[in-house]
Amino acid sequence: MSDQDSSLGPGWAIRSLPQPLTRGDARTLAHLSGSLFGDGYLTARQLQMEAPAVLLAIVDGNIAGWTTAYRWTGQNETPPRYYAMLQALDAPVHWPLHVLGEIAVLPGYRRRGIGTALLREALARHRHWATLLWDRSDGAPNPFLRLAEANGFSGQKRIPRYWEADSLQRKYVCPACQGTCHCDALLMWR
Ligand SMILES: CC(C)(COP(=O)(O)OP(=O)(O)OC[C@H]1O[C@@H](n2cnc3c(N)ncnc32)[C@H](O)[C@@H]1OP(=O)(O)O)[C@@H](O)C(=O)NCCC(=O)NCCS
Ligand SMILES: [Zn+2]
Repeated sequence: MSDQDSSLGPGWAIRSLPQPLTRGDARTLAHLSGSLFGDGYLTARQLQMEAPAVLLAIVDGNIAGWTTAYRWTGQNETPPRYYAMLQALDAPVHWPLHVLGEIAVLPGYRRRGIGTALLREALARHRHWATLLWDRSDGAPNPFLRLAEANGFSGQKRIPRYWEADSLQRKYVCPACQGTCHCDALLMWR
């Protein structure tokens, strides 16, 4: 774990949260995630149950960004919907499968390398990954696309309206759709 990266200035660090997440950590993360992806997009309960590995970027004692990563060792741990997507690919699936869930940097901290550093740290321990990119319905570009490509994600498959059922069920408002989410996802892997 790199503690500090001098190119990002002093007072900057990446740290991992204890796994499984404590209730407090899960709540904090759910709240932060909601501020970017829609309130209720990810619930604290879900985070505690699914137990992702979480990295935080800390700047001057404040959370500036995070990643969540999941590890599924076979079909049984893989959510059925995700498994079906993988089965529909031409690409081989490597087990255990590592899946990057969220990558996020809070607006005031972007474009100084924090996202890149978080991603590198998260990916470092394993070769094979899959992730779903948010292809926003409002046409705003997803800055993670370039980052993902620069870090070896190459496959791409479009999944139409991937979050629609979730957003209806949990009633979260997608910031791009201003209501129920109709955004597509791009499944990428490396
Ligand atoms: C995607 C995201 C995590 C990137 O975080 P970030 O900290 O801004 O990422 P970086 O700073 O490492 O890189 C972003 C850009 O800044 C540039 N950059 C890096 N350091 C820089 C610096 N010191 N000065 C200026 N630009 C810099 C990078 O070259 C990159 O440029 P590019 O987009 O032209 O390729 C962030 O934009 C985000 O949280 N977005 C909203 C959430 C989201 O959509 N997440 C993806 C869901 S699939
Ligand atoms: Zn949407």
